[in-house]
Amino acid sequence: MSRYIPTLSFHWFTPIYDPLLKWIMREETFKQGLLRQVGIVPAMQVLDLGCGTGTLTLMLKRAHPDAVITGLDGDSQVLDIARQKSRGMNIQWDEGLASALPYPDSTVDRVVTSLVIHHLSTEEKRRAFNEMYRVLKPQGQLHVLDFGAPHSAFTRLIAKYMRRLEETADNFDGLIPLFIKEAGFGGVEEAKHFVTIFGPLSSWRAVKGV
Ligand SMILES: C[S@@+](CC[C@H](N)C(=O)[O-])C[C@H]1O[C@@H](n2cnc3c(N)ncnc32)[C@H](O)[C@@H]1O
Repeated sequence: MSRYIPTLSFHWFTPIYDPLLKWIMREETFKQGLLRQVGIVPAMQVLDLGCGTGTLTLMLKRAHPDAVITGLDGDSQVLDIARQKSRGMNIQWDEGLASALPYPDSTVDRVVTSLVIHHLSTEEKRRAFNEMYRVLKPQGQLHVLDFGAPHSAFTRLIAKYMRRLEETADNFDGLIPLFIKEAGFGGVEEAKHFVTIFGPLSSWRAVKGV
């Protein structure tokens, strides 16, 4: 049985997750970049997988009020925070696991997942990408933001230390695009690269059925 890794590794850190991301990790920069990358149009079904406290989910809904936005996470504590932050907004919040998504096949237009993949063991990463592929409609798109392979000596140095944290080693070893391809996706490419004090982040896009 795989261990479940919550937002900041331990549940008692959850209350400081939002300020940490906002003030130390330049969350706004990379989440706005991801938002632009996703390409949502009205009535699309969009899943924010591992939505945490819902910051990105809310950004998606504010930018695209006519889209159907769902945030899913395996941790009821972060979902409670997300529900409070989204009072008055029409967002569906679901509790569930990345490796067993509670949705039928081919029903989602966009899966977006931010800073979640490095919480999953290698086997769970593969299962999660298989699940994302299953729930996406043909031509549906996957957009993943997470730690990625370093592009410079500076980020290689950070990655050397950060690879011991959670399940980040696959990320820093450049394996995420390979796992996405193995799940059946086509058109897999790194769309953007960001440098943060916790390590290099990449955003990838991929399409079901190319
Ligand atoms: C670092 S937080 C990222 C939250 C949010 N996506 C963001 O960008 O701020 C990682 C989230 O993934 C969730 N998570 C970890 N493993 C999961 C799994 N197997 N299934 C669903 N959610 C998971 C955690 O509960 C946590 O909320």
